[in-house]
Amino acid sequence: MLVLGIESSCDETGVALYDTDRGLLGHAVHTQVAMHEAYGGVVPELASRDHIRRLVPLLRSVLAQSGARKEDIDGIAYTAGPGLAGALLVGASFAASLALALGVPALPVHHLEGHLLSPLLAADAPTFSSDITPASGHESSLKLRFPFVALLVSGGHTQLMRVTGVGAYELLGESVDDAAGEAFDKTAKLLTAVLTQLHGRTLSQRQRADLAWEFQEAVTEVLAAKSVMAVRHCKLDRLVVAGGVGANRRLRQRLDVDAAHQGIRVYYPEVALCTDNGAMIAYCGAQRLLAGERGPRDGAFSVRPRWPLDTLPVV
Ligand SMILES: Nc1ncnc2c1ncn2[C@@H]1O[C@H](COP(=O)(O)OP(=O)(O)OP(=O)(O)O)[C@@H](O)[C@H]1O
Ligand SMILES: [Mg+2]
Repeated sequence: MLVLGIESSCDETGVALYDTDRGLLGHAVHTQVAMHEAYGGVVPELASRDHIRRLVPLLRSVLAQSGARKEDIDGIAYTAGPGLAGALLVGASFAASLALALGVPALPVHHLEGHLLSPLLAADAPTFSSDITPASGHESSLKLRFPFVALLVSGGHTQLMRVTGVGAYELLGESVDDAAGEAFDKTAKLLTAVLTQLHGRTLSQRQRADLAWEFQEAVTEVLAAKSVMAVRHCKLDRLVVAGGVGANRRLRQRLDVDAAHQGIRVYYPEVALCTDNGAMIAYCGAQRLLAGERGPRDGAFSVRPRWPLDTLPVV
């Protein structure tokens, strides 16, 4: 089954083609980071308009990478929430219209479920087409299976979950304040601008590097310790890391060491698939389509800017 994945929940437009027999055939992401930079945060209306501009070119690029035609697509998965309403509506309306034209199902997907299952994408993919670099050679990921504990560390979430299957997520704990990714973003801004001005002095390169390092040490130490604690609490031996902060090399280093001491194996998505992308949406949608789920019919669609993860149907 060939599934097209479409992600447009915030400031990245992601499109991907995932084949349930052949794995990830192609994916492309456009990030709007530079566009929003001048405003100090994501401007929802600009984000929506940019998604509109990017979707068709990204789809063409992914079809070319994959050597597939639109007519080969068997189903379309799109992020229906959580996220910015306008941005979500762009992806949802594009997906629903294309699905209607092709006569295939369009399935709404939960963005965080996409992140959560993204390490399984590498594990599941038997082969990759010639112009896609194979998953980073994490041989261990080939053996990943349910149940596991997931550490979801993204721009909006820091959560530990017990995952017993697709849709079966039990929240074990979460941050009470900013998510880890947001803290990284705010700290980066402080180090380069506000802090310097507040104190009326310029930090040396060395001082900035030391501060950044110590911040990273503080965050990664807590994340690693609590993740290992959660796996032990659940009496499991597998930990899966997902979300943008999962790309952090120091976090991976610490988790690998701390987990190894406890006989726990840690699984990561490919670095390129840690932040928002269409591949995780295509993969997640494929699992649900294979299980017989279908979205609204006849071009209908809706989005859910707020959508609790624990309300999803279990596959
Ligand atoms: N190497 C890294 N080290 C630490 N943080 C990182 C790294 N790379 C990316 N991030 C963080 O990842 C975050 C983006 O991740 P992601 O795209 O998964 O989050 P999001 O989609 O904004 O949030 P959510 O999925 O919770 O709605 C940013 O906050 C960024 O700071
Ligand atoms: Mg995300």
